[in-house]
Amino acid sequence: MKAAVVTTFDQKPQYQDFPAPTPKTNQELIHVLAASVNHRVQAQADGSHYTSDGQLPLIPGLDGVGRLADGRLAYFVTSDPVYGALAEQTVTDRRRIIPLAADTDAAKVAASMNPAMSSWMALKDRFNGDLAGKKVLILGATGHAGSLAIQISRYLGATTVIAVGRNQQKLAQLPADQKVSLLANDDDFTTAIAANADADIVLDYLWGEAARRTMLALLPARKGHQLLTWIEIGSMAGAALSLPAAALRAVDFTLIGSGQGSIAPQTFLRELPELARLLSQGQFNTASTTLPLAQVTANWTSADDKRLVFTMNEA
Ligand SMILES: NC(=O)c1ccc[n+]([C@@H]2O[C@H](COP(=O)([O-])OP(=O)(O)OC[C@H]3O[C@@H](n4cnc5c(N)ncnc54)[C@H](OP(=O)(O)O)[C@@H]3O)[C@@H](O)[C@H]2O)c1
Repeated sequence: MKAAVVTTFDQKPQYQDFPAPTPKTNQELIHVLAASVNHRVQAQADGSHYTSDGQLPLIPGLDGVGRLADGRLAYFVTSDPVYGALAEQTVTDRRRIIPLAADTDAAKVAASMNPAMSSWMALKDRFNGDLAGKKVLILGATGHAGSLAIQISRYLGATTVIAVGRNQQKLAQLPADQKVSLLANDDDFTTAIAANADADIVLDYLWGEAARRTMLALLPARKGHQLLTWIEIGSMAGAALSLPAAALRAVDFTLIGSGQGSIAPQTFLRELPELARLLSQGQFNTASTTLPLAQVTANWTSADDKRLVFTMNEA
């Protein structure tokens, strides 16, 4: 079969022949139709991700849409150390497979499922899914996951959505009620965040100094006993932050995370088919470019920030 293959971490994955996988116990064979490339997949391919054990060769790719042996279409998350999603065929643990409707748009779901599920699962599972009358602040709103989080917050009923981000051009285009620039000086940033201190939920894709600065502007400006649920989802601005304890004592503040591990596998199975249906229908969108897998080496990084999706022909 053809696949994107990593044989050395200092080279982009090469489009080449690779032995087709044989499913082991509890694995399912998948004929892949579409799989995307994001930061995590690039880190897997260059050996820099913390989960890398240095084992080569490998096929990168964390998730995708494909056809199962019984003909059903499915979204899958990979689990095998060698066989990732960027191949004509892959194998994965049966528990990481979510059957989809037959008319699902494979490329759309492959492009958006990972960034969209970050807020879908955070709001529906880590929060209680009831966003009626709620104000949501999205920290890192200019990325794929952040911009989908705006659309998903509104779909779930949020009354007000505040976008906080660094990229001025992208920030200006976002469909948020208010926008706050991370590039503003400290006084202007503090004033703009304090004006939204009554937020009910923060979806945090940044952590690090950006989250610390936002907490220090927001927490002291809160009034009364209104719960703030801060959901840590990504760490684009840093893996750690240091916060004065007093900032937390004065307010009703709950800090939780959302991702694999904090959400039960059966909850993903329950929640993701509906998200796949909405993505397939175009209810939520993120900018993507779809190319045949044969072009993976030449297009390993996106020239324009669009999410790259690679497709394979059905056998
Ligand atoms: N927990 C989950 O379930 C889950 C699921 C999916 C993704 N994630 C995580 O969510 C995060 C975002 O993913 P994505 O797919 O949206 O990535 P993306 O499309 O590449 O977006 C990344 C965003 O982070 C911003 N950024 C990067 N470094 C920054 C910094 N130092 N200060 C401020 N902003 C910074 C970028 O801003 P510019 O536009 O200015 O560069 C961009 O808006 C990642 O950490 C990813 O691992 C988590």
